[in-house]
Amino acid sequence: MRTHYCGLIDEALIGETVTLCGWVNTNRVQSHVVFTDLRDHEGVAQVVVDSDMGALFQVASALSVESCVRVTGTVRARQSVNDKIRTGRVEVLAAEIEVLNKAEPLPFHAHENPGEETRLKYRYLDLRRPEMQRMQRTRIRLVQALRRWLDARGFQDIETPILTKATPEGARDFLVPARMHPGEFYALPQSPQLFKQILMVAGFDRYYQIARCFRDEALRADRQLEFTQLDMEFAWVRERDVQDAVEGMIRAVFKEVVDVDLAEPFPRMTWAEAMRRYGSDKPDLRIDLELVDVAEQVADSGFSVFAAAAADADGRVCALRIPGGASLSRKQIDEYAAHAAKFGAKGLAYVKISEAGEVASPIQKFFDEARFAALLRHVGAGNGDLVFFGAGKYATVSDFMGAVRLKAGRDFGRVAEGWKPLWVTDFPMFEWDEEAQRYVALHHPFTAPAVDDIDDLRANARSAVSRGYDMVLNGNEIGGGSIRIHRPEMQSAVFELLGIGAEEAEAKFGFLLDALKYGAPPHGGIAFGIDRIAALMAGTDSIRDVIAFPKTTSAQCLMTGAPSPIADAQLAEVHVAVRARD
Ligand code: AMO
Ligand code: AMP
Repeated sequence: MRTHYCGLIDEALIGETVTLCGWVNTNRVQSHVVFTDLRDHEGVAQVVVDSDMGALFQVASALSVESCVRVTGTVRARQSVNDKIRTGRVEVLAAEIEVLNKAEPLPFHAHENPGEETRLKYRYLDLRRPEMQRMQRTRIRLVQALRRWLDARGFQDIETPILTKATPEGARDFLVPARMHPGEFYALPQSPQLFKQILMVAGFDRYYQIARCFRDEALRADRQLEFTQLDMEFAWVRERDVQDAVEGMIRAVFKEVVDVDLAEPFPRMTWAEAMRRYGSDKPDLRIDLELVDVAEQVADSGFSVFAAAAADADGRVCALRIPGGASLSRKQIDEYAAHAAKFGAKGLAYVKISEAGEVASPIQKFFDEARFAALLRHVGAGNGDLVFFGAGKYATVSDFMGAVRLKAGRDFGRVAEGWKPLWVTDFPMFEWDEEAQRYVALHHPFTAPAVDDIDDLRANARSAVSRGYDMVLNGNEIGGGSIRIHRPEMQSAVFELLGIGAEEAEAKFGFLLDALKYGAPPHGGIAFGIDRIAALMAGTDSIRDVIAFPKTTSAQCLMTGAPSPIADAQLAEVHVAVRARD
């Protein structure tokens, strides 16, 4: 149909006849000439029709934007060169124009960004935009580079089921009714976790899969209901074997795809240190602000909120000093408090010290002069600074002060250029769930504890550390993994600690416990979020930009209209009755 791509014609073709196919990008009709920019996935070519060309001039004049057109003509040098584009030194003098499909007036033009709802509804038009094409190509090159790396090192690409049994990764499952088993359901995998472990038991040694995962959880800029992991598992390994290998892989693909040199080796930080200094288990190390604990300095103050948190073994009082923060108005400070409140803060105390040294603070009144001065000294506060304070439970305070740190980092231009990867290690094994009054696994229930001894784990569950690890890049958790439990007794003990009784464990995970009995080697692995890595590489804040057909934050596909009601007959076939909404 075509001899050349629009975006690739150049001076070497001058004098030759070419046939191009593409969309009408723009059409400039002048009295004596029509200039049509024809676009394909490679770029744009200028097509020219002069008014002395009779009917052809009429055809060209009438071309509507985004129509599909086939043009045959002669390549010639352009009079006014455009060095901004690859084809800017040539143009095609048309001899023939065939309109393959006339486009109706568009809901928006390829040059515009009409807002995400419209973009998602007409995703095919949105994806035509060069910026979207660029981001998709970045993702494609990432996956190609990963596969090349893995294939060259003997990793075996093995598919695991999509219709399966629930694999708990902490989110809600998507369920699929089983027509042949009335009242029973398959679950879509939250990850291939158990299958990949069983592949290690089955002797495959090194596995990978570009795996679609499904989690029915709240959507955000970095979370979708279905997303893609690079899932990996290794037999006969300890954590450094896995970490060193995949760190090399990530470094290699960043170099190949976006020509970025990541640090070698990645810095390492324990979970406890990350929470203490950054209030996050995925610290953005590009921001130089740090939290400072002040429990000791406020323990004797008259502010009961601070004193109580300082006295609580599970409490925390900490400060964040923002150099130059005294420029914030009262209203802006309130915005910080509102931001912190979204992360569970009951208040956000502050001390503001003007350039002239005047102090404004709702908590100064609770301190005598010496204690207040000691507090400011401890956090290093000086003229021009603003210091925020958080008090309460350790986890909550870390969380909201971590969020305040990120906001301040952005607002005050303290996010350094470049790339800051790190490993976060030594996660707690369990988290206490107040509501359910039981432990939940911080990674997943198959993660090995640091201790080998079951009695030791039982006795010290609250403080137990796991063999889990996360890879973090610029404040994003891009990968998470662990060394797994490979002995059935330990797996049963962990289930028990998680409140999963022997009977329930047998019903849900009997197949795993069985597999562990018959010679399961020590093994471990990791899974990377492909969407998140692609978004980082493409320079966008939202993974929706690197997913061809994403869901909105309200979990819908605006193009197809999914989800949608199902006819009674079809529901009856799968033995499902829809309950009235509560
Ligand atoms: P985890 O749950 O940490 O680990 O997931 C691994 C990585 O997948 C990405 N990710 C997501 N990306 C987009 N949308 C989501 N909803 C979403 N959820 C997770 C993150 C994350 O680091 N089976 C374990 C891996 C293992 O232990 O080997 C697992 O799934 O980048
Ligand atoms: P109050 O005396 O309750 O008005 O509180 C004095 C200051 O402390 C206000 O600026 C509150 O925002 C702040 N504050 C209250 N509770 C907390 C908390 N848990 N952590 C940090 N600041 C708080």
